[in-house]
Amino acid sequence: MAKTLLKPIKRIAKGNFILQFHKWCQFLAAKIPFGKYFMHKHYAPPANHLEREVFGMRFSSPIGLAAGYDHNGTLIDSMDAMGFGFMEIGAVTPKPQSGKESKEYAIYRLEGDNALLNYSQIESEGVEKVIENIKKRSSRIIIGCNIVKNNSTARENAPIDYLRLFRPLYQYVDFFTVNLCDNSSDVTYVPTDKDEVMAILTPLFEFRRGQNQYRPILIKISPDLTDEQIDAMTDIMLDTPLDGIVATGGTTGRYGLENSTQTIHALGRIPGALCGTPLKQRSLDIVRRIYERSKGTYPIIGCGGISTADDAFEMLKAGATLVELYSSFFYGGGETLRNMRTGLNERLRKYEQNSASTQVTSPTNTTQEYD
Ligand SMILES: Cc1cc2nc3c(=O)[nH]c(=O)nc-3n(C[C@H](O)[C@H](O)[C@H](O)COP(=O)(O)O)c2cc1C
Repeated sequence: MAKTLLKPIKRIAKGNFILQFHKWCQFLAAKIPFGKYFMHKHYAPPANHLEREVFGMRFSSPIGLAAGYDHNGTLIDSMDAMGFGFMEIGAVTPKPQSGKESKEYAIYRLEGDNALLNYSQIESEGVEKVIENIKKRSSRIIIGCNIVKNNSTARENAPIDYLRLFRPLYQYVDFFTVNLCDNSSDVTYVPTDKDEVMAILTPLFEFRRGQNQYRPILIKISPDLTDEQIDAMTDIMLDTPLDGIVATGGTTGRYGLENSTQTIHALGRIPGALCGTPLKQRSLDIVRRIYERSKGTYPIIGCGGISTADDAFEMLKAGATLVELYSSFFYGGGETLRNMRTGLNERLRKYEQNSASTQVTSPTNTTQEYD
């Protein structure tokens, strides 16, 4: 029964084709003469109040593209032209890895809830190819590289994979996100134990110590961590040279769905990570928790269910310094980004105007409070 139901729903609900089509158009638009110029003109009107300095770098906007959209670094110029202030490429794996190992793997659209169910293995052309792609970029958008071990690598060898990515990529990207929330396929990797996480991070800190240029290192955490585990991750940030946290990736929970319950039931026991609006409250709570425990002393990148300027502003108010989107960009493309940029710019302009008299904080502070 489940099998017969599954087929038609998969046909309706799969988002892979649409996603590939969008990416293809975005890639081509940046290649044609004046393509980037017109994209920028249309999607990214001036928004001076969005600028900020974080990690000692100047971000033109706090709104970034989350990992998973540009796995291989082929859309860098296009995302810059669209008006993102930064982007995470990847997740990159050391060796090439196909995302299509199971016939069931797919990205399911749960449109009624502005959500995506991502049941797929991370797809990466491998570190060497990604470096080749990054070298071809012509824009100067800030790039974070999301790194993760290959699925075939044994858990105990994960630190070797992360270092194999970190070293060659070091000179080509601006910051790193160590992905600790690979939970969308049958092989999940979500380390939560402090020693296990430190075994990954320590070699990266050591390598960085010998370099002339400083590259911030962040970890990306799962929204499925318990409060104690979130605190433990925050403490790693407080006690080690870790520079920040990206909160969060997708959830294996199935909460926050108001209109897609039927689809979810019909899909049956499809595992994978739920992303988009249902994730919003959990991500906000986690960002707030990290912010309070770290007393606002570290940058946090808020990610999960951000689709409007209000969502982005709420995330900043919860303690995030930067925000990232995936699902809302998947559904709304450049128009969503444009509206978010314009709306957030207006909110920040008003905030700065109101706080100018009280001199709460400098707008370029790494972390900032919004009352
Ligand atoms: C199809 C898909 C692929 C993703 N791939 C990655 C990935 O490779 N690495 C990662 O850290 N997060 C990945 N994510 C998670 C997103 O970066 C983001 O954390 C999540 O979608 C929550 O944001 P959203 O609610 O705006 O979608 C992926 C999400 C989706 C939907």
